[in-house]
Amino acid sequence: MGVDMTKFNNAHHFLSSSDSSASLTSSLQNIRHTLSEIKGQSQAMDRVLQTVGKVARSDSPVLINGESGTGKELIARAIHRLSQRVSRRFVAINCSAIPENLLESELFGHVKGAFTGAESRRKGYFEEAHGGTIFLDEIGDMPWRLQAKLLRVLQEKQFSPIGSNETKFADVRVVAATNVNLEKAVADKDFRLDLFYRLNVLPVRVPALHERKEDISVLLNHFLEESNKQHNFMNPAYFQPEVYQVLQNHRWPGNVRELQNLVERLVVITGGGRIAVDDLPPEYRHGKIDEPKVTKTLESQIQQDPVSSVDKAAPEGDLPELGINLTEYIEQLENSLILQALERTGNNKNRAAKLLGLNRTTLVERIKKRKLAPLNSPSREL
Ligand SMILES: Nc1ncnc2c1ncn2[C@@H]1O[C@H](COP(=O)(O)OP(=O)(O)O)[C@@H](O)[C@H]1O
Ligand SMILES: [Mg+2]
Repeated sequence: MGVDMTKFNNAHHFLSSSDSSASLTSSLQNIRHTLSEIKGQSQAMDRVLQTVGKVARSDSPVLINGESGTGKELIARAIHRLSQRVSRRFVAINCSAIPENLLESELFGHVKGAFTGAESRRKGYFEEAHGGTIFLDEIGDMPWRLQAKLLRVLQEKQFSPIGSNETKFADVRVVAATNVNLEKAVADKDFRLDLFYRLNVLPVRVPALHERKEDISVLLNHFLEESNKQHNFMNPAYFQPEVYQVLQNHRWPGNVRELQNLVERLVVITGGGRIAVDDLPPEYRHGKIDEPKVTKTLESQIQQDPVSSVDKAAPEGDLPELGINLTEYIEQLENSLILQALERTGNNKNRAAKLLGLNRTTLVERIKKRKLAPLNSPSREL
């Protein structure tokens, strides 16, 4: 098979070209800043974003690989946004959702009378995306015959609408995504080897969520904030600290999409306020860690003695098998306790501060810094 391996090899050289680590760090910061909609603090996500920054500078095809719900479309949009094509269109199409005969006309267009029902000419996505990027999601499901037509676009930058002899020029960058192993599809003769090589010029792998557990709490907070904004309950929803721990040990087969749906479901069902481990659907409670001693200890101490000393309130939580991020855990624990104190006192900062053994000023500063104030509760300040 006439496979042009030069481009393939060049791509790998391109991806591993050695930028100095300082410029990598600063460019990572820039990328993170520009792509602030992509949440995550894991090194795995850093590596993905670094790759995104590199592939965005090129105009070669990209193949994004990752389980369903990992954020492949988000990454594809990010590549477009960082590329020179940013001012032109980004057109997304899901190859598995459209029947074969329709897919061809959606992609390449047709002329009037090309087939029964083709009453007028239709522009295809390759024409509409001219100058921009086309995102071919679930490329593994593209029918064999169309794979050949796509290969022609990639190799010769040319295509013909259905029923036309006219050759059109395609100035389109192709970003494809798959959640199946395309190499296996090639071995099974479901996917053309030559097309695979053409697409896999710049491979980007988006790791599954369970491979980057550090992102779970960040994503939980992000979607919690989104849901809170959307519902605007009297008391914004918040997670009890144990919820973060328990969910960190979930396997997330549906990845970020599953997490997003779970948060929305919990916020709607609880109607605002605290979301505890027991509010989780049973299949999510597997990661439950014996007794949630940390909060219990602190909470009960505070109830018994509002001005309890640090010593008395020392948490005795068990360290989970897989470890925790201590700084983050403590911050979440604090946030949770502050919100509980605000909730219990009807947002009265003086009384909440007393409950927490803090100065009022310290409490107010912390609430501001972490944007914790219940959005909607009437302020009953003294
Ligand atoms: N790192 C992330 N930060 C914020 N939202 C994310 C992230 N990854 C995925 N999402 C969200 O999760 C959902 C699924 O992502 P999507 O890109 O459609 O996944 P895929 O294409 O891999 O199935 C979308 O709503 C997306 O915005
Ligand atoms: Mg998708």
